[in-house]
Amino acid sequence: MSAPLELDGKRVLLGLTGGIACYKSAELVRLLTKAGAEVQVVMSEAAQEFITAVTMQALSGRPVVTSAWDDREPNNMAHINLTRGTDAIVIAPASADCIARLAQGRADDLLSLLCLARPWTAGEARCPLLVAPAMNREMWAHPATQRNVAQIVADGAVLLGPGHGDQACGEIGDGRMLEPAELLDDLIAFFQPKLLLGRTVLVTAGPTFEAIDPVRGITNLSSGKMGFAIARAAREAGAEVTLVAGPVDLPTPRGVRRIDVRSARQMHDAVLPLASGHDVFVATAAVADWRPATLAEHKIKKDGKKLAPTFELTENPDILAAVAALPLRPYCVGFAAESEQLLVHARAKLERKGIPLIVGNLGPATFGRDDNALLLVDAQTHRELPEGGGTADKLSLARLLVREIALRIVPHSV
Ligand code: CTP
Repeated sequence: MSAPLELDGKRVLLGLTGGIACYKSAELVRLLTKAGAEVQVVMSEAAQEFITAVTMQALSGRPVVTSAWDDREPNNMAHINLTRGTDAIVIAPASADCIARLAQGRADDLLSLLCLARPWTAGEARCPLLVAPAMNREMWAHPATQRNVAQIVADGAVLLGPGHGDQACGEIGDGRMLEPAELLDDLIAFFQPKLLLGRTVLVTAGPTFEAIDPVRGITNLSSGKMGFAIARAAREAGAEVTLVAGPVDLPTPRGVRRIDVRSARQMHDAVLPLASGHDVFVATAAVADWRPATLAEHKIKKDGKKLAPTFELTENPDILAAVAALPLRPYCVGFAAESEQLLVHARAKLERKGIPLIVGNLGPATFGRDDNALLLVDAQTHRELPEGGGTADKLSLARLLVREIALRIVPHSV
């Protein structure tokens, strides 16, 4: 099953102001439209010095608006029409000058004018404004810019970035525009309901690797995708998220703090000191139950021996059970990867580990795949996700699970 279009049906007004980062906005339009958004581009005069309206029109599939005096609009009111029915204004790149204009409520160019004229209700923007600054580090650090940024945030704008790193001018510092993929992820997250705002969530993900000797070890087929999706969904829902990851090859979700570990004991040692400081613990990791009792210092050689070596195994600590037994414990969610009798095994595990919620899935059917089917089991009930059976992509499932967790830790919040 393919993942749903994340911005399907969303209408986004993309504003470009003067900055070399305009070249990245071409890619941003592609990503937004690929995600299902309808994109209307508005460019300032300075932006057109960096990239042409022709490029942006071709990529967005609609004429670019550059002037408040654009008489293609029947009522000649581009500054009003452009934001009505629009789900978000994203200004990327937002120059220092653009931010200063927004802070002052200026109305002498189309972009500042339409931001000023966007619809508000009782102080809350119905057409939200997201601003991705892009400028030289000295301009960004200047007290005037910082004052203006604080002002637009106080007025309800959402700041995306800026990033840190090499700048077009050759200097290094804060002020880079975020990469198009980062802006896309931030916009997708912006539209998610903030069900875990102010909450802290700790997630384990991936397999563990139990070394036999310096080059060999015992591991399993877990890809970490489900755990990473849960970390992302919790972050999108407004939580502060820490992800303790076994050896996987996956990018860290935006805004998530990641701690990499290898073995079950390392995962245990990373998780236990953090657990009491979190509201929720989601244990998705496929932790190896056993490890070799001794670690060979050097690679075990064949040395002409005919007999294969044998290993004694010793049990690894049960991280989830240890967290669930803490005097100050977070709300614990376990995963049960089974190969049969999902409900029976999941419920038994729920009781054995002393946790309020467990998520069953059929391990062999889901390891490494992008979709999954979950069975949510608590003390009283069980239900399928997605509802009615079938499978869904892991991010959609993760969002559904986050909603279920939010319902259980904050009754009646949804
Ligand atoms: N888990 C853990 N630490 C372990 C083993 C498991 O934290 N040493 C967590 C997993 O992250 C998962 C849950 O416990 O959330 C269930 O793990 P699983 O290995 O499926 O269950 P076990 O209790 O090991 O039972 P069995 O292997 O018999 O199925």
